[in-house]
Amino acid sequence: MLFVEGVNQFYGESQALWALSLSVPEGSCTCLMGRNGVGKTTTLEAVMGLLPIRSGRIRFQDQVLSSSPAESRAKNGIAYVPQGRRIFARLTVEENLRIGLSTNSGARGRKALERVLELFPVLGEMMHRFGGDLSGGQQQQLAVGRALVLEPTLLILDEPTEGIQPNVVHEIGDTILRLNRDAGLSVLLVEQKLPLARRVADRFYVLDKGRSVAEGLIDELSDSIVAQYLTV
Ligand SMILES: Nc1ncnc2c1ncn2[C@@H]1O[C@H](COP(=O)(O)OP(=O)(O)OP(=O)(O)O)[C@@H](O)[C@H]1O
Ligand SMILES: [Mg+2]
Repeated sequence: MLFVEGVNQFYGESQALWALSLSVPEGSCTCLMGRNGVGKTTTLEAVMGLLPIRSGRIRFQDQVLSSSPAESRAKNGIAYVPQGRRIFARLTVEENLRIGLSTNSGARGRKALERVLELFPVLGEMMHRFGGDLSGGQQQQLAVGRALVLEPTLLILDEPTEGIQPNVVHEIGDTILRLNRDAGLSVLLVEQKLPLARRVADRFYVLDKGRSVAEGLIDELSDSIVAQYLTV
């Protein structure tokens, strides 16, 4: 479904991604792993068209994305929940969700919003609260909800459990499983928490210094890969 092919990316003179290739098959939950600063967020931003790439190609379904503007990614069915969530703290939950809905208006959008509120009932209860007054876990639900009202076919999540209490981490895992296995949404997940990655993902890639150094089915994520590239 998504193919990143030989992507090189630079911040100024400094190269952040080196001939990086990865793919997300339809229906998969693919986890991108690696220590801090190895290029995980950079990879996602390149996919979303938020960063220019020097060379290589990004394809989604039948289209070459790397030559199209960032706004077209959402229309093509890719939704992105950035690291740190970035919800609007001074807007209400409802207003935050409506921003997500801007390109999915009318009856179809209303249906999509209903489904999001079924998935996250707490958002329905808090529609008129400010985003900034929600707990970290609730803000994460809002960020995912805002992405889902666009009815994406690929959901990209950047460290959704960062800074979240352990009991809520499990709930986020439940949500990812529900979206992926029950609703059939394809997922590209950046996650540093190994137990969660093993629980929700079916495939993995490990990055180190901007290069892909290991990949496979999640059951093939061995202790030696973990020791070499993932533990601090
Ligand atoms: N805007 C920027 N300008 C210059 N360098 C940057 C910029 N953003 C990221 N970098 C550098 O690029 C490299 C990859 O950063 P990136 O944010 O992709 O890492 P990451 O794997 O997402 O890390 P983390 O787990 O901490 O979120 C790092 O060395 C980082 O310092
Ligand atoms: Mg990051």
